Amino acid sequence: MSDLSGYPRTDYDSEGIDEGTVAGTPWQQTRAWVSEAVAAAEVTPGFAEPTAVSVATVDADGMPNVRVVLARFLDDRGPGFVSSLHSAKARELATNGRIALAYTWPGLFRAIRFRGVAEPIGADELRAYWRTRPYGSQIAACASLQSHPIENRDALEAAFAEWEARYPDTGAEDAVPMPADFCGWRVRAHEVEFWAGRRSRLHDRIVFTRIGDGTLDDPASWAVTRRQP
Ligand SMILES: Cc1cc2nc3c(=O)[nH]c(=O)nc-3n(C[C@H](O)[C@H](O)[C@H](O)COP(=O)(O)O)c2cc1C
Repeated sequence: MSDLSGYPRTDYDSEGIDEGTVAGTPWQQTRAWVSEAVAAAEVTPGFAEPTAVSVATVDADGMPNVRVVLARFLDDRGPGFVSSLHSAKARELATNGRIALAYTWPGLFRAIRFRGVAEPIGADELRAYWRTRPYGSQIAACASLQSHPIENRDALEAAFAEWEARYPDTGAEDAVPMPADFCGWRVRAHEVEFWAGRRSRLHDRIVFTRIGDGTLDDPASWAVTRRQP
């Protein structure tokens, strides 16, 4: 498909968001929209993974990189995700901790954008999350040298089988120990934007900008402005 000019246009008609209806803190507004997205996904065929986020980093040369991950943590410190220390994102964050993370829900005509710095998730919190992962996902995390090349699919499956043999599925919570390369980051935001699609592309953008050191739920730490669409 080379010419998309005939592709149907959608006029976005969300209820919008404004200075009067936005919650008092970025945390409260994020929690409300994420909860609504999760609820909508439960009843909307084809609406999968409402907690998927795009995560952007830059490499040592300033070259941007972006990929989708699942937001596994969400509290008033910011959204967080898990990954592998072998990954490109881990290398990039080690040299430049600046990060951007976006939830995008096109079917709801909504998005939330965070910009800030990545903070590593502590070992206890990571371990608590690790225990909730299904056995197969634990084994896959052990078997994969994420983002590194491998000859073919067979080699990947052989690595999976080796780790399965090493840590059989006993059903015990700690059947598979968390590997040392399992890691995660949380975004400590300095800016959070709530975008709501409106008719004729005259969208709403309400932006919280950090003015203090508090959490996402500290009203004194954030100033609100509206940006043009
Ligand atoms: C829906 C979806 C969910 C994903 N979830 C994760 C995740 O939680 N953690 C992760 O490391 N990669 C996840 N991935 C894979 C990443 O997009 C990416 O391929 C991987 O993290 C390697 O990225 P990097 O080489 O830029 O570090 C997911 C991909 C998709 C499409």
